[in-house]
Parts: sequence; structure tokens; C-alpha cells
Amino acid sequence: MNTHIERALNDQINKEASSSHYYLSMASWAETKGLAGTALFMYTHSDEERFHMLKLVKFVNERGGKAIVPAIPQPPLEFDSVHKMFEALLAHELTVTQSINDVVDVCLKEKDYTTHNFMQWYVAEQMEEEALARSILDKLNLIGKETGGMYLFDREMLEITNASASKTAK
Ligand code: FEO
Repeated sequence: MNTHIERALNDQINKEASSSHYYLSMASWAETKGLAGTALFMYTHSDEERFHMLKLVKFVNERGGKAIVPAIPQPPLEFDSVHKMFEALLAHELTVTQSINDVVDVCLKEKDYTTHNFMQWYVAEQMEEEALARSILDKLNLIGKETGGMYLFDREMLEITNASASKTAK
């Protein structure tokens, strides 16, 4: 495997692993606040990021490279509010999108069209993740500071997560 491509993919493995860890921390925080739906959403999201990482690990190894399992720094453990947590999630996803675009750039520079094709799955996934994060933030903006609204929000997060899990299972 071309060393520039290998390095870019290993950087991406690191980012996906860090994302998984970050959302795990968000899940755990939400769970301790009694927000079961938000916690389930974040636990599921953390699992998805691990899947994104694994998909890259396998691709690198199958193409003759060597995937590097990264050391992960501790993510933040506290979040000021659910709203702030989802803002942090969207900001984080925007940095992931940028790094996916950087990998695509390297693929084009190196004329590696196989990896370019493989990366399109990630490009589409980022579009979906950003849209989902924005729609959740829209809901949180509507709720504002209403406490009753947070109860309904958390229930909706449970429904969103269960609905997407049953869609994946089909
Ligand atoms: Fe795998 Fe949310 O980036």
C-alpha cells in the first residue's frame, strides 16, 4: 500500500477511535443524569464509530498495509448541558468530515481510485451524521430551558435510536 495513503488511513483510524471514546463519555454522562434515551443514542453512536474504525483497520490490512491501533487520550468527562454536549458532537463531526475530505484528497493526489471509492461510504456517512446532529440541535433550540421539554426530548432520543436499530436489523 502507498505510504501516503497508509498514513492518511491510519490517521483516520485514530479519529474514529477517538470519536467512539468521546461519545462513550457523552453516553456515560447522560446516563448519570437520568437521561436514558440520550445515553442510548450516545452508546449506539459510540458503537457506530467503532465500526467505522474497524472497517478502516480491515481495509488497510487487506490492501497490504498495516493498521495501527491507536492510543486514545481521555475525552472530556463533564458537559455543561445536553445542548452543549450536542454542540460539541456537531463540532467534532465537522472536524471528522474535514479529515475524511483530506483522505479523499490524498487518494486523488496518489491516483488511488480503489481507496477513493472505499472512502465514498465515509463521505455519505458524514453527510448523514451532520444532518442528524443539526436536527437534534434544532429540537434542543425549540425546547430552550423548559424542563418538561427535556423529558420529551429524552423520550424522542430513545425512539430515534430504537427506530434506526430496527431499520439496520432489517
Ligand atoms: Fe465516523 Fe461520526 O464519524
